[in-house]
Amino acid sequence: MAEKDTFDEIALLVRARYALIVLDTREYDRALEGLGRIAADLGLHLFTWTRSRGMVRGTHASDPVVEKSTDPAKALAWILEQGAGLFLFRDLAAHFDDPAVSSHLLDAIGHFNSKRGAIILTGHDTSVPDALRPHATVLDLPPPTFDDYRRLLERLIREYSAKMPVKVELTHADRVRLINNLVGLTMLEAEKVITKLIVEDGALRERDVSRVTIAKRQVVEQDGLLEYHPASDKLDQVAGLDGIKAWLARRRPVVADPRRAEEFGLAFPKGVLLLGVPGCGKSLCAKAVASEWGLPLLRLDPGNLYDKYMGNSEKNFKRAMQTAERMAPIVLWIDELEKAFAPTSGDSDGGVSNRVFGSFLSWLQERKGDVFVVATSNDVAKLPPEFVRKGRFDEIFFVDLPRAAAREGIFRIHLSKRKQDPKAFDLAQLSAAAEGFSGAEIEESVGSALYAAFAEDRALTTADVLGAVKGTRPLSQLASDRLQQLRAWAAQRTVAAD
Ligand SMILES: Nc1ncnc2c1ncn2[C@@H]1O[C@H](COP(=O)(O)OP(=O)(O)OP(=O)(O)O)[C@@H](O)[C@H]1O
Ligand SMILES: [Mg+2]
Repeated sequence: MAEKDTFDEIALLVRARYALIVLDTREYDRALEGLGRIAADLGLHLFTWTRSRGMVRGTHASDPVVEKSTDPAKALAWILEQGAGLFLFRDLAAHFDDPAVSSHLLDAIGHFNSKRGAIILTGHDTSVPDALRPHATVLDLPPPTFDDYRRLLERLIREYSAKMPVKVELTHADRVRLINNLVGLTMLEAEKVITKLIVEDGALRERDVSRVTIAKRQVVEQDGLLEYHPASDKLDQVAGLDGIKAWLARRRPVVADPRRAEEFGLAFPKGVLLLGVPGCGKSLCAKAVASEWGLPLLRLDPGNLYDKYMGNSEKNFKRAMQTAERMAPIVLWIDELEKAFAPTSGDSDGGVSNRVFGSFLSWLQERKGDVFVVATSNDVAKLPPEFVRKGRFDEIFFVDLPRAAAREGIFRIHLSKRKQDPKAFDLAQLSAAAEGFSGAEIEESVGSALYAAFAEDRALTTADVLGAVKGTRPLSQLASDRLQQLRAWAAQRTVAAD
């Protein structure tokens, strides 16, 4: 539902004599503006109560205080002496523990049996006490849309241009990117960010586009559950995994223009689960997707999710997912899924992780917003089977040990990263020698060969790297039974990543 529809809906409810409406939002100013509009349409006065000022008639700081009491119970009792009106209470939920408040609220609801109007509560995550629930209608104020931010940007450019010279040097594409970067901020936050960009140097330029991300990063990291990762290598720095790369490439146009894709009947992709052998590029791939698609990468840190109080862990998880949705479009990376979300048997932790696991499963299926999840796991034995069922992820890929061509690619990438010219090496020979090696093991051989060469103060050669390869026993040899089991398991349930 768009913002306009939400306020239309409230107007409709007031006309239909719904006496208690809860508008869930963290954007009080937007709520105030919209309610001011519908009050005028309905021909009702709007009264607003805040803990700091008491009851005011109107929505502005300069509007008159009509009831001084900052005690919410008294302010509610005061309504009974009034006629028609819309009575807005900000953050009243903080006072629901006080029985006087709930009981006065019930009385005040009765007032509207004979008078026009309603009581409207705003705040974030308002939970309505049981006694009031039958009377309350709860609505969410949806987050601002692309068009809301576009209008805000246009308005601010207009307003500042009237006061000072403002140079706008944005191409159409820059402008779209700038607005996309604002997505996730509240209107107030977005206004502050744009104002700062304009006022600082009297101009809006291409470089301002990325500066919006810095402001967003601060918002994301405020609650410590999601970590913002700066852009890393792109997919060309990942060797092999052609199956995943092709799959991602097909979805790239959808991610680049989700609105047009939607009109075409295509939804934003949900995500992928990457399972497989340790050290073969799962985490690497997760990071590369975000860079490749030009989306912010947020990593869920399960360590901060859990709390000894079940209620807190669940709340933490929901808050993290709300932030993720608010920041969309994003890539949400959940590394080592089995560690974060394995339900526990018995109740060693009072069932905390079972509850969080349940919340996560339903979020995976019902989430809103353009959040592409990349989850990884290398221990399928511990991975709850629920994750592998259809509908949770768009696709489940099995990342196996790299084959000959991919191994060559991995040598090439890691030699280049260490300032070596790959053309000076016999990559085919190296690749053949490193059969059964993971990407991480190949990377390590290059590194250790380089140490040896540096110590002897000479250039690195194929023979050095071969020596390092021959001196390594790869994990696949040490744990070959496990590898076979993993492959057999994956053959039935997953798609090959390569
Ligand atoms: N396909 C690849 N191309 C380039 N480098 C690779 C590749 N696979 C692995 N590497 C190198 O090995 C390192 C470790 O890989 P990564 O962390 O992605 O493994 P993983 O599959 O997530 O393993 P784990 O299951 O242990 O978490 C990477 O940082 C990268 O340097
Ligand atoms: Mg990993």
